[in-house]
Amino acid sequence: MDRFQIHGGRPLQGEISVSGAKNAALPILCASLLSAEPLVLSNVPRLRDVGTMKKLLMQMGTRIETVCQQADGQEQLCLTSDAMTHLQAPYELVKTMRASVLVLGPMLARFGEALVSLPGGCAIGQRPVDQHIKGLTAMGAEIQIEHGYIKAQAKRLRGARIVTDMVTVTGTENLMMAAVLAEGTTVIDNAAREPEVVDLANCLIRMGARIEGAGTDRVVIHGVDRLGGTQHAIMADRIEAGTFLCAVAAAGGDVLVQHAQSDMMGATIEKLREAGVRLQESEQGIRVIAESRPKPINFRTAPFPGLATDMQAQLMTVSSIAQGTSIITETIFENRFMHVQELRRLGAEIEVDGHTAVVKGVADLSGARVMATDLRASAGLVIAALVAKGETEIDRIYHLDRGYDRMEQKLGAIGARVLRLTEKA
Ligand code: UD1
Repeated sequence: MDRFQIHGGRPLQGEISVSGAKNAALPILCASLLSAEPLVLSNVPRLRDVGTMKKLLMQMGTRIETVCQQADGQEQLCLTSDAMTHLQAPYELVKTMRASVLVLGPMLARFGEALVSLPGGCAIGQRPVDQHIKGLTAMGAEIQIEHGYIKAQAKRLRGARIVTDMVTVTGTENLMMAAVLAEGTTVIDNAAREPEVVDLANCLIRMGARIEGAGTDRVVIHGVDRLGGTQHAIMADRIEAGTFLCAVAAAGGDVLVQHAQSDMMGATIEKLREAGVRLQESEQGIRVIAESRPKPINFRTAPFPGLATDMQAQLMTVSSIAQGTSIITETIFENRFMHVQELRRLGAEIEVDGHTAVVKGVADLSGARVMATDLRASAGLVIAALVAKGETEIDRIYHLDRGYDRMEQKLGAIGARVLRLTEKA
């Protein structure tokens, strides 16, 4: 198991580049199931979750070729789903990545059947998929839960009006992919407005889908008989960008975060400004300048454009060294404060009461050995380690590798001292 050894206490300087978005790449890879023609994707980030999705699609029969390795280290892939052999997503893959459930909508829409393992709970919460099932049922699918699998069948899905009980990102994406090949019009109300939903919709539209309103809370999809192939560049990862902005906000310095775009980042930008960080946007990205200890910030996580739950841990680290007390409430997932205990080991003063954390800013953190518990918690710990005096070791960084492309190299290029230690089996 790899771990990071980080020597903190240095400001960050230079330029850092953001990769393609994990949460856009995963549904867009699944969109290849909707057509027999090739889908060519660029800016595909080299992440463990992308590797898992490729494995899942390939074992179903999709052919995936690497067209080229881009100059920035990302990949251009060509996916062809013209000879599917296995319309199943097995437990072994779904249990390692819940986003595997995104094959359900497209498989059912194009092939009329799907067998997908029911995802279990995960470290940050229960995360049921009842809304995916409810929406597909409204579109005429017959769904049974048997032996831990979602067994879905439909001769042809038909358009329906669906109101989801809560805003769900992958739920909206699954239903949108199912609806593009359904007969008639589907309306999804209370739809997720996340930029990744828009990126998926744009790719589907290029493939021939008729979708209106992506990026609003009402998405209207007029079903078509078939989709073709296309080329699409995955959008930049707003969470990776936000993580780098927080790293500079906490460790200090002056860095250009290339490809970061403030209109994609919702409330994160405002919170960083409130923390006293200077942000300058240009065509290249966002330049972040942090010259003093941050000011405290209060926030509640919310669906886009509210403050992303995926930024909560990183912003908590920034507030842990603020000049004052911050109050942070997590509203999306029930168990997403696991980084708190580890941040305390580095000297942070944080009290948790239910879904709220009270963070009393301290002047310094100090290096210690800590453990990563989930993807974004790990990012929060890396930022804390960049601030902390002395050496920090972060165990279990396989969580980080799920969603960050070569993080140690990227941070190394802006002056951070991050070493990956690989333990031989
Ligand atoms: C996606 C993101 C994840 C992010 C999350 C919230 C991907 C691959 N992952 O996850 O990084 O943290 O959005 O922004 O895009 N819920 C139900 N029933 C459902 C669906 C959801 O109760 O059928 C609940 C969830 O338990 C959670 C909330 O709704 O409390 C939002 O979850 P959702 O938006 O679906 O998260 P994901 O799409 O899994």
